[in-house]
Amino acid sequence: MTANRKTILITGSTDGVGRYIAERLAARGWRTIIHGRDRARGEAVVGRIMKQGGEARFLGADLSSLAEVRSLADAVRRDGDGLDALVNNAGIGTSGAQRELSADGFELRFAVNYLAGFLLTRLLMPMLESGKSARIVNVASAGQQPIDFSDVMLTHGYSGVRAYCQSKLAQIVFTMDLAKELAVRDVTANCLHPATYMDTTMVRLSGVQPISTVEQGGAAILQLIESEALAGRSGLYFSGMQETRADRQAYDEDARRRLRALSFDLVGLADPLTARV
Ligand SMILES: NC(=O)c1ccc[n+]([C@@H]2O[C@H](COP(=O)([O-])OP(=O)(O)OC[C@H]3O[C@@H](n4cnc5c(N)ncnc54)[C@H](OP(=O)(O)O)[C@@H]3O)[C@@H](O)[C@H]2O)c1
Repeated sequence: MTANRKTILITGSTDGVGRYIAERLAARGWRTIIHGRDRARGEAVVGRIMKQGGEARFLGADLSSLAEVRSLADAVRRDGDGLDALVNNAGIGTSGAQRELSADGFELRFAVNYLAGFLLTRLLMPMLESGKSARIVNVASAGQQPIDFSDVMLTHGYSGVRAYCQSKLAQIVFTMDLAKELAVRDVTANCLHPATYMDTTMVRLSGVQPISTVEQGGAAILQLIESEALAGRSGLYFSGMQETRADRQAYDEDARRRLRALSFDLVGLADPLTARV
């Protein structure tokens, strides 16, 4: 073990673009925490990294359960190596016409793609803050649908595309809100659309013909994790390598406040800002 290595947790790094960036970062000297549900796939990624002389370990957790998110955060804390970057990348795509529920009874894409990352970030915040210039990167999408606060769990008019796009905008609204909260602290939060229809399991399952490579999307995520030019910059949304604007709801203070209140309520945590008042 090399003491001066930085540590990164990448959710959903047993497959797709998450696995790609994990292998790239490990090759550059990062200590990588590989995460997914499938231990065999996770151990295979760890094995490949170790064979190349890198450092990695696998932590399994199904993000459709908030209890498993908490266990994952506990395991990262127990690891004791600090945390310099957190990439909330795990996700499920648009496929499937039937509305599904998480273990906690929430609409599944909202739970896995957004709420799990919200809770994981909140639980790991003390670790991120105790490091030096830690970075949070939320892997969202150009597919964005405003959050319907009257029916966040999509009990009416459900479609997989709508659920996916709402969950992805929720990640972006969260990023903007978090960046504002972290403004006086040494942690940044940014988000992105990595690339359009990369050749990954998620895209193949949706029946769409891939038009980008994981290398293209991976480069965009790596930029947010490592770029010196982005040091200290926070609350940004990128499409690929370019900084741009997300859906207008991401800049709506009222939407941020409502999503924040709802999210703390759903995960059963106290809002540190409200608690301080
Ligand atoms: N592909 C694209 O073109 C594209 C475009 C825009 C945004 N994105 C975003 O990029 C991210 C990565 O997508 P990808 O295309 O690389 O997808 P992918 O190849 O399907 O990989 C998804 C990863 O998420 C994990 N995951 C899924 N459900 C999980 C759950 N319930 N609990 C824990 N882990 C879970 C999977 O782990 P298992 O091994 O356990 O299945 C896998 O490691 C996603 O957030 C996606 O929305 C992708």
